Amino acid sequence: STAIVRIVSELRSIVAAWRREGLKIAVVPTMGALHEGHLSLVRAALAKADRVIVTLFVNPRQFNNAADLAAYPRTEHDDAAKLASVGAHILYAPNAADMYPPGFATTVSVGDVSEGLCGTFRPGHFDGVATVVTKLLLQSGADLAFFGEKDFQQLHVVRRLVRDLDIPIQIIAGPTVRETDGLALSSRNTRLSLTERHRAPRLAEILVQTANQLSSGVSIKGALTDAREAILAAGFSKVEYLELRADNDLASILRVDRPARLLVAAWLGQTRLIDNVQVNLA
Ligand code: PAJ
Repeated sequence: STAIVRIVSELRSIVAAWRREGLKIAVVPTMGALHEGHLSLVRAALAKADRVIVTLFVNPRQFNNAADLAAYPRTEHDDAAKLASVGAHILYAPNAADMYPPGFATTVSVGDVSEGLCGTFRPGHFDGVATVVTKLLLQSGADLAFFGEKDFQQLHVVRRLVRDLDIPIQIIAGPTVRETDGLALSSRNTRLSLTERHRAPRLAEILVQTANQLSSGVSIKGALTDAREAILAAGFSKVEYLELRADNDLASILRVDRPARLLVAAWLGQTRLIDNVQVNLA
């Protein structure tokens, strides 16, 4: 069964005991409401480490919208059961008052890769993510940490802060897990109405089509304009961004002359969906 730990000192003493046994330790940070996307990371972690800590913390600092935070699903009991069935060793679920006690005054702010894309439309979001991920990585003292490609810009932010702050942990990325119709799994998918749920997979479909066109060398501008129109025609109300970036450092690119990523954020009714796909060289 999966032990639930809430206090960092308790987490640290368990991890210290594991270390004395020479065990390799992995951490998988989450905000709970666990689905197959999260569980795939836990399974990957179990394959590479002897002990796996899953963190569950709905981090208020990364929500730039109070309604979004209030609506965020909280299903710790179900989450713990899923983790037990997969075989995670610890569920670390700290309280907000312990993570951010009165007087907390430090922010980790990552430049460069936090700018643009979601950074433009969710002010403060990546500062919140970078601050909590730094704390969780340091609290766990793990050797490996697993993050999903679903949140591709977040993955880059985490890689950068680990490098810049010399945090001794290896970041490992897991591929995006999708429904059979292509929709990327997300805890926010449960907010979609039935009609919206039927429309949602068009986003991934259009991304894949556009990625294929881009690798075959069509004009980037034309392909992105067509794709935007197709997303709106599919019933999305707004495209926040649809951009081609370099896969390895998120730099803006004007030509597919290296492995690239096509990233999108779009609104379907009241729900904001993000997704991304790889764009291969021709
Ligand atoms: P959360 O949205 O719960 O996601 C936790 C991890 O699961 C992230 O690394 C995310 O990229 C990954 N994930 C989510 N959906 C996925 C999917 N369909 N396929 C593969 N991986 C998926 O991301 C966060 O929480 C938070 O920002 C966090 C990093 C925990 C900091 O608070």
